[in-house]
Amino acid sequence: MLRTHTNGELRLTDINKEVTLCGWVQVVRDKGGMIYIDLRDRYGITQLILEESKTDKAVLDTVRTLSREFVIAATGTVIERLAKNDKIPTGDVELKVSNVTILNPAKLPPFLIEDKTDGGDDIRMKYRYLDLRRNPVRANLVLRHQVAKFTRNYLDNQDFIEVETPVLIKSTPEGARDFVVPSRMNPGEFYALPQSPQTFKQLLMVSGFDRYYQIVKCFRDEDLRADRQPEFTQIDCEMSFIEQEDILNMFEGLIRHLFTEVKGIDIGEVSRMTYAHAMKTYGSDKPDIRFGMEFKELKSEDIDLTSGKGFAVFDDANTVVGICVKGCAEYTRKQMDELTDFVKRPQIGAKGMIYMRYNADGTLKSSVDKFYSEEDLKQWATTFGAEKGDLILILSGDGDKVRKQLNELRLEMGNRLGLRNPNNYSVHWVVDFPLLEYGEEDDRWFAMHHPFTSPKPEDIQYLASGEYGKIRANAYDMVINGVEVGGGSIRIFQKELQAKMFEVLGFSDEEAKHQFGFLMDAFEFGAPPHGGLAFGFDRLCSLFGGSDSIRDFIAFPKNNSGRDVMIDSPSTIDQKQLNELKIKTV
Ligand code: AMO
Repeated sequence: MLRTHTNGELRLTDINKEVTLCGWVQVVRDKGGMIYIDLRDRYGITQLILEESKTDKAVLDTVRTLSREFVIAATGTVIERLAKNDKIPTGDVELKVSNVTILNPAKLPPFLIEDKTDGGDDIRMKYRYLDLRRNPVRANLVLRHQVAKFTRNYLDNQDFIEVETPVLIKSTPEGARDFVVPSRMNPGEFYALPQSPQTFKQLLMVSGFDRYYQIVKCFRDEDLRADRQPEFTQIDCEMSFIEQEDILNMFEGLIRHLFTEVKGIDIGEVSRMTYAHAMKTYGSDKPDIRFGMEFKELKSEDIDLTSGKGFAVFDDANTVVGICVKGCAEYTRKQMDELTDFVKRPQIGAKGMIYMRYNADGTLKSSVDKFYSEEDLKQWATTFGAEKGDLILILSGDGDKVRKQLNELRLEMGNRLGLRNPNNYSVHWVVDFPLLEYGEEDDRWFAMHHPFTSPKPEDIQYLASGEYGKIRANAYDMVINGVEVGGGSIRIFQKELQAKMFEVLGFSDEEAKHQFGFLMDAFEFGAPPHGGLAFGFDRLCSLFGGSDSIRDFIAFPKNNSGRDVMIDSPSTIDQKQLNELKIKTV
């Protein structure tokens, strides 16, 4: 070993020891007569000290050439510091240096290697290996390591076996586009990188593995956002001879274990809500339930408190729905305009917003007073359970669409009012997802989760009757703080039902056989009832770390254009490689 100790290790109990430390120079302070060096490694920082009059000239000459990020080894004696630094664990001691060796000099880094850096996103990504030297970035990866370790502990204790599945596979339709890899030995043919190991884990159940997991890379060629990367990691799991309830309990257990071990938090009861309830009450299949503001309807299939008063906007809408925001009746005109602009942004697409203030003096004032009497407004206030000081925000339009818009407004109000503290956690399941959803553009039905998800037994009748929209699936998502962290389902395990599912999804017999013949064949050789789920590992880590961006928890992430700017990828390849692959480019 080049060192006797790390830079996070020395304490008062080490005084008078001869030690050698290695690391990177964080900073050199030449105070005339005394030279101080902060030496850094993964474990911490130790102060080195050289008294000019008592140090060898050759050593002083070496030290005077040092600059930030030089890699050095320093030998000396541990002494007690006169001016202690209680901000760092090694702050009681320092190393009185007798010798310094430069292991490697360094160019000046393009940004400060400190907790708060002056480097922008692009430059930090280009020099990611330097960015990773910074404490907060490294801490994120340490957290990631912890989450993986405790995941493995839990699943191992529950008899899960980690099995690796191939990365060069055939495409599995899960909604996103595949990344493909040309095969040199099979000209004109391509592998696909897995969007998930879905079919393989099901085959492992047919093989009798009973409980499988894998912390596994998945690849999806989709538009990127803060919580989406083209390659990301799943904690992928599957179990045999179970029902939905068993899966929910098993993986609630995993998340509970992770919160306890990694965060020291007891998450309490993990509640469940149906997809139908989530959509009606929050306009989202992944509601953030850390705060209330549940939707209340003024007009829907069940109620109408708005029609026939001459306000055409509400008259023409099939749905009028709103939220009650506590204590915001005194929002200024400017704040109301900001909110209106917010909902009118193209990404949200509302035409406008109506509001009603329940003033502190008990009066009700709305932006549509021209059309509605005080009696009407009182009725609205009762519907919302509003109290003096509350503000009611109302959108109108078409059922699901307007609910999705109101979801955005609700989340915005949650942000504005500080109700979405990343250090408060709420964990819940959304269950009973629809099996199928209709794609207007393609004029066909799509699997909402994936084609291997089984319908609820009591809804199978609607497969025969063709009422596909009514079929609920044994499918579930776990939601933490409004983020979908995981999802899964009980699978189809009978060949006939799987064939029917492919038929509903518009596959011809040949197509189904071509794409999934292997799975259908396997179902004829004794497939057990099975089901599972996959957690988004990066998302889980970012939630534990209190961040919205999964990039901060991936060592070498891609940017929003799917590029790795450090290695400059994707990139063109040699003509020779293209020729070998028999690929012609334009
Ligand atoms: P699903 O497609 O819901 O299910 O994915 C499971 C979880 O993976 C995470 N996730 C992502 N994370 C980062 N970047 C992405 N591009 C990305 N896409 C998905 C989400 C999501 O909840 N095979 C099924 C699981 C099963 O049925 O067992 C599947 O992949 O957190």
